Amino acid sequence: MMKPSQPYQPLLLRILHGFTGICLILAILTAFWTYNTYDGRWGQVPLPEYKEIEGIHGTFGLYTLLIFPAFVHYAFQRGQRRLVQPDSFTKLVQVGQPIWWYTLNRFTNTLALLALTFALFSGKMMDETWLPKGDLDHIWYYGHLISWVVMVAVIALHLLMNARIGGTPLLLSMWNPKFRAKDTPQLWPKNVLIGWQKTRRRSWLKKFYALAELPQLELAILGTLFLAWAISLLKEFALAG
Ligand code: HEM
Ligand code: HEM
Repeated sequence: MMKPSQPYQPLLLRILHGFTGICLILAILTAFWTYNTYDGRWGQVPLPEYKEIEGIHGTFGLYTLLIFPAFVHYAFQRGQRRLVQPDSFTKLVQVGQPIWWYTLNRFTNTLALLALTFALFSGKMMDETWLPKGDLDHIWYYGHLISWVVMVAVIALHLLMNARIGGTPLLLSMWNPKFRAKDTPQLWPKNVLIGWQKTRRRSWLKKFYALAELPQLELAILGTLFLAWAISLLKEFALAG
């Protein structure tokens, strides 16, 4: 049994946040090794030169890109309370009060979603032949490098904020594998079925309205990810044709 005073995170959040987080951290580490092997203009560390690391990084980047839309949808729906609220800006004047820290935490959570969107988009704009050829001056390569710095800074801020508002128990609650009975995955197939049947009964027009009712920022993020796939597929077709 868990003590009721301990922070508790919904299981679905822990799964989506956990997979996104792990794939992202592996992408960040392998990204550094790729930079170290092929570039090194802003400093290098004595890691072995390992050419295959580029493909490994691409794979972890791709995993992050695949899981991220589900996490985004969760965060804007069931996790809405932990993102920026319409009144968040007015709360920012209460400097130093607990609400101020909670508000800053919500800003950082939202910023993490935006930073990752940029990292994934710029990654999709990369060409795997640039670095092996020594072509280090592409605009999207610089964008992708900047996205790494931004992402590392935002994760550090995210950890600091969560440590400030809830300390180690809150940080660990996100990685705790125990879950409550009402959170059991055994209920998920039934919930998915109910949701699916509800959507199926809706007319196309209502489906369209439901899409338009998503928060604007969620639509913008999902739209950007969709665009990243579309552009990179178009480029592939253009090269093949
Ligand atoms: C590396 C270790 C990480 C730890 C220990 C951690 C910890 C946490 C904790 C404790 C919360 C819940 C805060 C609360 O209850 O108010 C949270 C939420 C969140 N985290 Fe992380 N996090 C990590 C990595 C990441 C990464 C890499 C991202 C990048 C996208 C991220 C994005 C988010 C977002 C968007 C939320 C809000 C979720 C919601 O709307 O429900 N986290 N994190
Ligand atoms: C937060 C940091 C980063 C994330 C989340 C990320 C993510 C991604 C993603 C999603 C792709 C596309 C993969 C695909 O469609 O197959 C990609 C490709 C690539 N990234 Fe990153 N990346 C990051 C940082 C970096 C950095 C700092 C470098 C510097 C060397 C880098 C080098 C590359 C290269 C060369 C590719 C093309 C290789 C390929 O597609 O296999 N990335 N990245």
